[in-house]
Amino acid sequence: MAFSVGFTRFIISSEPETAREMLNSSAFADRPVKESAYELLFHRAMGFAPYGEYWRNLRRISATHLFSPRRIAAFGKLRAQIGLQMVGEIRGLMEERGEVGVRKVLHFGSLNNVMLSVFGRSYDFGARNGGGLELEHLVSEGYELLGAFNWGDHFPLLRSLDLQGVRRRCRNLCERVNVFVGAIIEDHRTKRRLRGERNDEEEEESSGDFVDLLLDLEKENRLTDSDMIAVLWELIFRGTDTVAILLEWILARMVLHPDIQAKAQSEIDAALGSARPVEDSDLPRLPYLRAVVKETLRMHPPGPLLSWARLAIHDTHVGGHFVPAGTTAMVNMWAITHDEAVWADPEEFKPERFMVEEGGGGGEFPIMGSDLRLAPFGAGRRVCPGKAMGLATVELWLAQLLQSYKWVGSDRGVDVSERLKLSMEMKQSLVCKAIPRVRV
Ligand code: HEM
Repeated sequence: MAFSVGFTRFIISSEPETAREMLNSSAFADRPVKESAYELLFHRAMGFAPYGEYWRNLRRISATHLFSPRRIAAFGKLRAQIGLQMVGEIRGLMEERGEVGVRKVLHFGSLNNVMLSVFGRSYDFGARNGGGLELEHLVSEGYELLGAFNWGDHFPLLRSLDLQGVRRRCRNLCERVNVFVGAIIEDHRTKRRLRGERNDEEEEESSGDFVDLLLDLEKENRLTDSDMIAVLWELIFRGTDTVAILLEWILARMVLHPDIQAKAQSEIDAALGSARPVEDSDLPRLPYLRAVVKETLRMHPPGPLLSWARLAIHDTHVGGHFVPAGTTAMVNMWAITHDEAVWADPEEFKPERFMVEEGGGGGEFPIMGSDLRLAPFGAGRRVCPGKAMGLATVELWLAQLLQSYKWVGSDRGVDVSERLKLSMEMKQSLVCKAIPRVRV
């Protein structure tokens, strides 16, 4: 489909073959940068940086130091701890209110997870003031600004007028982010200086979050302070929202399909019983749990338009049609995953379709971008670099939440209406009951 909004030309693919052509083509290795992203300096972050040396450097650094299998495994204990904290928080909420609004719990957990793995620090989000609260404000204001439709992006004349106040709000937010993230970077610098003065090699070895790594690479890669702030800030955005939203959808599906929930719980019980909490190393023995995650990604892809679009760097062709340079290209992953010609009974929530031994034929169905029938993390050069980390987090926390509680509906029911913001979230956030299965 092709259309224009103001001066912006769009093409949207809703079928796997042209989606593959677009995402895998070097012609679409750039991204259109919205005014809000520019104002928030995101053009210096990985997701919006133009295709070129700077972007390649960031991808390389993060692939080696943040998203490598070794690094993801090293953070397994931390993920498990945060998962157990959420389990405890849910118990408290059930005792206090008799029901749980899961979105807030998942969001705090996910934000803390990113903060710990990227910045090496955690926050007490229950507190009424302090860093956690400021961070919450910064993140939600950023989500709103980046997710909002801005007429100025498509009508250059309107841009200077800033009728929706996007630029003013972005500049204000940018200042606060600079102070917040800048202080964390400074703090890391001071600690490194002190360690250097003490010549404390052992401590140096044991530290090493992503901020430390960027500081190590600062000179070699010519990253300025504001580049670092942009890179770090983007990771918070990308890493928090997607994971929390996906888990909320999965829990909603568990409430709606008690038989599927029970089957996933039986699998966990059979694999390790209830004597100890699930760990990363148990996950390979939980194929049905993985199938539940895949099926939810199919039914409710968090980035239904692959969130952030691509931009044609030069003239090219898609599906035999001419596409001029400067065209914004999107893949409608939601349409593909709900297409009867691609998936049998697409409206049915059926994790079995991903289990070979149950006739699904899709046990090994790859979801990392090689098969465009289900590519929730995109594909090609700009495929999501955090996909393995995101999946590891979602699978572990889901296993912990299912092991600990039976999830049932509250009087409010479950509404699966969708709302597209920066990601596709539940329009009515899930409020349900968590009945303890084991002592937690
Ligand atoms: C369930 C979890 C996640 C989903 C569904 C998801 C989805 C996506 C999608 C659809 C894209 C666009 C890909 C394309 O254009 O082909 C993307 C890009 C990106 N994601 Fe994720 N993501 C997830 C988790 C994460 C995590 C945990 C991080 C980091 C902490 C992350 C960081 C990024 C970055 C930096 C990009 C931009 C890459 C570039 O343009 O080079 N994502 N993600």
